[in-house]
Amino acid sequence: MAIFSEIQMKKIVVLTGAGISAESGLRTFRGTDGLWEGHRVEDVATPEAWHRDSVTVQRFYNLRRAACRQAQPNAGHLALVELEKYANVHIITQNIDDLHERAGSKNILHLHGEIMKAQSSRYPDLVYPIEGDELTESHKCERGYALRPHVVWFGEPVPNMEKAISIVQDADILLVVGTSLQVYPAANLIYEVPSGCKFILIDPNANQMHVNSAVELIDGTAAKILPIWVQQFAEQNFAT
Ligand code: APR
Repeated sequence: MAIFSEIQMKKIVVLTGAGISAESGLRTFRGTDGLWEGHRVEDVATPEAWHRDSVTVQRFYNLRRAACRQAQPNAGHLALVELEKYANVHIITQNIDDLHERAGSKNILHLHGEIMKAQSSRYPDLVYPIEGDELTESHKCERGYALRPHVVWFGEPVPNMEKAISIVQDADILLVVGTSLQVYPAANLIYEVPSGCKFILIDPNANQMHVNSAVELIDGTAAKILPIWVQQFAEQNFAT
């Protein structure tokens, strides 16, 4: 239950990327130890890869699913739950893990899908939770077609993009955490904020990122910075 009434609460939209889950043990994509250093995107994360070699694609996501199940939400995810006491929080995540959900955040929109779900390879609207870690060729949708991971691959449309744009368009604060902002259309969301919206970016590489000069850059990791930021936000906005 919110402590303060919705009316006085600011709307904070949090755009998260792989970096927020790094301290939970999940690898990011770019950078020296990134997933895309060890795998070619074209081999595992495109519709063409699925048609060419679905076994390799399934294996890639099965391993990531197992890693995700073992991972626990970190102090960064938990701080965003705490923030709900003080603000109207909307999380838009590029992550396919379920760490925001398991931390307990309420409003979460996944832009790139969810690894704990499968979808029909023929009818994308048929979506199912995955029991266990493995999705194999033997798993079929109710209409008899193979199940594939419920993730958005390169070259595919991002079905939740319009919803994300409308969420961002009346934000008071946009908090961007742990994303290199290199993947579109997700990265375009930062240009959808209304004028007057405060824009803050938290990332250990924040100072090397090329965003406009009005952005407040906070150099540091999500698990370290977010709890401090949330506490300061509470003190500044709700001091008694
Ligand atoms: N806390 C916060 N940020 C961190 C941390 C951390 N502990 N560790 C790393 N980062 C930052 C990196 O500095 C980098 O800016 O997280 C960012 C991760 O960037 P990417 O690996 O590019 O991940 P992301 O931006 O989420 O990628 C977007 O690309 O391949 C796809 O679909 C995949 O959703 C993904 C999309």
